[in-house]
Amino acid sequence: MKLALIGFGTVGQGLATILRDRGETLRGDYGFDGQIVAVSTARRGSLYDPNGLDIVALLENAQDFSGYPESEGLQRGWSTEQIIREGNADAVVEVTPTDITSGQPAIWHIQTALESGKHAISANKGPAALAFRDLNTLAKANGVEFYNEATVIGGTPAIRLGEELLAGSGITEMRGILNGTTNYMLTRMEGGATYMEALTEAQRLGYAETDPTADVEGHDAAAKVMILANVLMGGDLKNADVPRQGISALSLEEVQDALKNGEHYKLIGKVWREGGQTKASVELMRLPGSDPLAGVAGADMAITYSTDLMRHATISGAGAGAIPTGFALLSDLLAIHRKSHHA
Ligand SMILES: NC(=O)c1ccc[n+]([C@@H]2O[C@H](COP(=O)([O-])OP(=O)(O)OC[C@H]3O[C@@H](n4cnc5c(N)ncnc54)[C@H](OP(=O)(O)O)[C@@H]3O)[C@@H](O)[C@H]2O)c1
Repeated sequence: MKLALIGFGTVGQGLATILRDRGETLRGDYGFDGQIVAVSTARRGSLYDPNGLDIVALLENAQDFSGYPESEGLQRGWSTEQIIREGNADAVVEVTPTDITSGQPAIWHIQTALESGKHAISANKGPAALAFRDLNTLAKANGVEFYNEATVIGGTPAIRLGEELLAGSGITEMRGILNGTTNYMLTRMEGGATYMEALTEAQRLGYAETDPTADVEGHDAAAKVMILANVLMGGDLKNADVPRQGISALSLEEVQDALKNGEHYKLIGKVWREGGQTKASVELMRLPGSDPLAGVAGADMAITYSTDLMRHATISGAGAGAIPTGFALLSDLLAIHRKSHHA
């Protein structure tokens, strides 16, 4: 499968590292041969070779493509649009920064890929949160796939669990810890840190951005509930449809008082069906210790699926980082590979 990576930062390099280190196993065990033919970035230019880029050399020169060795088919400086439209990739991997207000330019990248008959997989939350229905319709019309496993709980297969393994069980509700930064901060506050101390620590560890608004005010969690609603419950929610709360008003005293009573504050994203409609919210909740989400600590995340046929199923695990998120992208590529071989 020939791949074009649009964006080559943490996650794009995570996927390339996995393909470099596991290529042989993936070919031997799954018959999957992932070959990167193009990478495109904002400031470092692009590389395209229809015969496949050398992954070892690509990773060695990831910060400055000028050191990447010349070869017969190599093209430097193709635009992202040229790579998507004219390149020979089978799948476009969208890993540019998320813009959760407009979803651009990622929506346009994915739309262009699907229109060009190429599969699109994305770690970027914008397209699946803001334009899932249209993009999914476009994918179907063009006989290709649009997959988003990496957008919710990174490497932990939350979307595929709901979409494939729980198919037919009748999912009635999803409740989850969908933001690792705030969960880390809440865990630190349970350990005695003030809100500001927990935030500073999260920033020092690279969990929180310099401007932490997207995490602490619940915007990131809201994007993820929109994705779950859209992908798993047929919703078409807009930002304004999701009532949202963050953790910035929570005091150390409140967290400690809950703890004394065996309870835990958690930022919970919820999606459910009501009166034939898909609803979603992000709410700061005080959970009893018996709730499966109450014990999910640190930067880990989790989702509990409630179903008609088998009550509850909870999955939890690592949410972010180059390799877990790269793995989520790989799982989408393997799903496309399996599907095309069973077709
Ligand atoms: N990091 C994680 O753990 C994680 C987990 C789950 C999901 N995600 C999502 O995955 C996506 C990528 O995250 P990341 O951490 O890899 O980000 P990153 O390290 O900032 O890398 C972003 C890459 O996109 C490139 N880029 C920016 N605008 C572009 C454009 N218009 N056209 C082509 N390339 C462009 C950048 O180029 P330059 O290098 O030249 O600036 C850079 O290579 C984001 O949407 C993020 O929300 C990340």
